[in-house]
Amino acid sequence: MEDPRQHILPVYRPPEEVFVQGEGAYMFTEDGRRYLDFIAGIAVNALGHAHPAMVDALRDQAGKLWHTSNMFRIKGQEELADKICRDTFADRVFFTNSGTEAIECAIKAARKYHWAAGNPDRIDIITFTGAFHGRSLGGINAGGNPKYLEGFGPKLPGFVHLEWGDHDALKAALAAATTAAVLVEPVQGEGGVRAMPEQCLKGLRELCDQHGVLLMFDEVQCGMGRTGKLWGYQWAADVAPDVIAAAKGIGGGFPFGACLMIEAVAEPMQPGSHGSTYGGNPLAMAVGNAVWDIISNEEFLANVRRVSGTLAQGLKSLADSHPDKVDGVTGKGLLTGLRLKADPKNLQTLCRDEGLLVGVAGNNVLRLAPPLIIDDTQVRDAVSMIDAALTEWTL
Ligand SMILES: Cc1ncc(COP(=O)(O)O)c(C=O)c1O
Repeated sequence: MEDPRQHILPVYRPPEEVFVQGEGAYMFTEDGRRYLDFIAGIAVNALGHAHPAMVDALRDQAGKLWHTSNMFRIKGQEELADKICRDTFADRVFFTNSGTEAIECAIKAARKYHWAAGNPDRIDIITFTGAFHGRSLGGINAGGNPKYLEGFGPKLPGFVHLEWGDHDALKAALAAATTAAVLVEPVQGEGGVRAMPEQCLKGLRELCDQHGVLLMFDEVQCGMGRTGKLWGYQWAADVAPDVIAAAKGIGGGFPFGACLMIEAVAEPMQPGSHGSTYGGNPLAMAVGNAVWDIISNEEFLANVRRVSGTLAQGLKSLADSHPDKVDGVTGKGLLTGLRLKADPKNLQTLCRDEGLLVGVAGNNVLRLAPPLIIDDTQVRDAVSMIDAALTEWTL
């Protein structure tokens, strides 16, 4: 039999199931099997599948106007940028089609900021082990993961990778005359669902201020309510970044991202300095406005924090009852997981056999990133399916 995937570039190895329908926190295969979705397209479907507000917004816009390019004003962009700047530290927003592009915009804006200030040598972006910033050449060089760089030519200059937690190296790098910005995920996703301690985020802000270095948060995975605050960094008191790269949850499943920045960083980004044909298109903006109105609401975020507590308790009980297989619970809010004593790939399959979709991440982590609309019953169902899978799992 011919492989139906024979013409697809084989950079992924998906399982056999084909999903054709989604409803809230559930997905259904073409033969009608139901799965509880605890990975949400890797932290994307923040409002679950087929949320009526998103469906209505998209349907309505689809009948009106799809694309004009940024040659013309796009009303939905203006509305969403106003809301974002009303609710966050930001003064300006650039809309993209993905997280990687939001990161590219952040890196370019950081360099341009220093260039415009008469410091063209300040080009280095500091990042940390375990980082993931996307798959463009800029993204893989920022991330610094050798696995993702291999075979793709020389490493680009202008990226400095530091060991997570090496404060002396960080202080030295921040004092260097070539440093432009620090780029960090407040909660690392791919790298092992690892939250940066709140006092480190605060210390980072202080050090950046001391040395005139920009602080940029990659909130592509941990932002948009995923940790129970609008942004993951907001768990640290009195910290605000200069730039945020956002994506995933901001579109709830419609592909788009955003680069948020303060006015001083935005100022040198004048006409012609950056652009995108599709970024901020009317369809994305229609969905984005609907998603923002729901997720930026404090009551919605409070419920994410509450249900996160139920999940944390459940995961703790799994760690207690499977000490031979589980090392601990990791992450924050609904970007969480179990640190395991072996590669979790088989456990992921066993969870799927139970009817639960989960992800994996670095450092042997079984990654959970359910839709933010899950309820306590669904959390308890997920925990009992992981329990059954763990019982069956052999290391
Ligand atoms: C923290 C982080 N940054 C950037 C990206 C890249 O986003 P995208 O895949 O939308 O380009 C991802 C994707 O997983 C991510 O988790």
